[in-house]
Amino acid sequence: MSFETFQAKSLRGEITIPGDKSISHRAIILSSLAEGNSYIKGFLESDDCLHTLKIFQDLGVEISRIEPGYYKVEGVGLNGLREARNVLYCGNSGTTARLLAGLLSAQNFYSVLTGDNSLNGRPMDRIINPLEKMGARIWSRENKYLPLSIMGSPLKGINYELPVASAQLKSALLLAGLYAQGDLKIVEPEYSRDHTERMLQAFGVELEIDGKEITLRKRGTLKLDAQEIEVPGDLSSAAFFIAAALITPDSEILIRNVGINPTRDGFLKVIQEMGASIEIFNIREYAGEPLADIWVMSSNLKAVSIEGDIIPLLIDELPLLAILATQAEGRTVIRDAAELRVKESDRITATVEGLRKLGARVEELADGMVIEGPVRLQGGVEIDSYYDHRIAMSFMVAGLVSQESFRIKEAEAVKISFPEFSTILKNCVKAN
Ligand code: S3P
Repeated sequence: MSFETFQAKSLRGEITIPGDKSISHRAIILSSLAEGNSYIKGFLESDDCLHTLKIFQDLGVEISRIEPGYYKVEGVGLNGLREARNVLYCGNSGTTARLLAGLLSAQNFYSVLTGDNSLNGRPMDRIINPLEKMGARIWSRENKYLPLSIMGSPLKGINYELPVASAQLKSALLLAGLYAQGDLKIVEPEYSRDHTERMLQAFGVELEIDGKEITLRKRGTLKLDAQEIEVPGDLSSAAFFIAAALITPDSEILIRNVGINPTRDGFLKVIQEMGASIEIFNIREYAGEPLADIWVMSSNLKAVSIEGDIIPLLIDELPLLAILATQAEGRTVIRDAAELRVKESDRITATVEGLRKLGARVEELADGMVIEGPVRLQGGVEIDSYYDHRIAMSFMVAGLVSQESFRIKEAEAVKISFPEFSTILKNCVKAN
């Protein structure tokens, strides 16, 4: 389904952003493995997270919706999952596929994981290799891709240096590690989001964390205690509104209850360096996750370099930062971001191609891009989102300030992380 963008003279409003995608997945997973009933408030009812939820129902966990975004999960304990009768379908969700692969490797039953066309083309060898070192038995297409067939087996702990800073990989290993004989020690090359570590600790699992080194020490039997979880608003979703307000004249937006976990906040740091008028206030903590309210207004932006170890802290916001760069004074350089090529789409190609169609000055690099701004974006074209939710939303933001509207192909992909996106954005548009 293609989407016609709309322009805005200004954006105003006080908004609440739906729950964090990464935390929603983990809330379902850990609540399912806990002993007793957990309650999840603010669960993100988007395609990706609903796939995780459905998979746990397929694995025999009772999960009921009390009201929108509010769920009861009847935990079955670490050894209570049951073999599913069907293939487990992860849709577009890399987090579901990778975290589940780790968990299912350790069960005493057989599972098959598959996904949509995009997910079935994303690399899984990064999880298969270390899981096999732990003793997992996994069959995959071309030794690398979904579908995965997993014959659960006893696992052992390993010492492992992650070849990429990936929270999905780290989390897959931690979930497998819950069942392993012996300690699991993993070392990250750079910090990546740490929601799994925080939530495991909230459920009563002890982890030794020393900088980028995480150890799950096995003494006695582990058990997770049921929790009440409140999922904060997703900073990666809030980022679209923050960016929209920054580049649309005469705008002012207040966003309530946004997660500001320091392993996710690279976007906020970079826009501050770009000169954004933004205030992050009312900072508090809930279930181990920091959150805040964010006020933002239109700003004159200047170009910056985005590279090095900040990249994993803003990896999902890079297409959006590229849109902002077109409106910033000077030359923005994005480097060290080759991971973008193996996300829901090749986000470097998708972003560069779309921006060029809109008349931006952009050069593609193997691991990023260079953008010269400011440029008045054109329109009247059709841009391919490659069925990638973040590409679709980034270009909807670009459309607010383009000279003419344009079309975005497969824009229904927004339902993967933020089904209400365009409705909330339209509500912020001040018609004057
Ligand atoms: C996620 C980790 C990141 C991120 C993705 C969500 C997670 O992926 O891009 O949107 O929930 O763990 P990688 O682990 O591949 O970096």
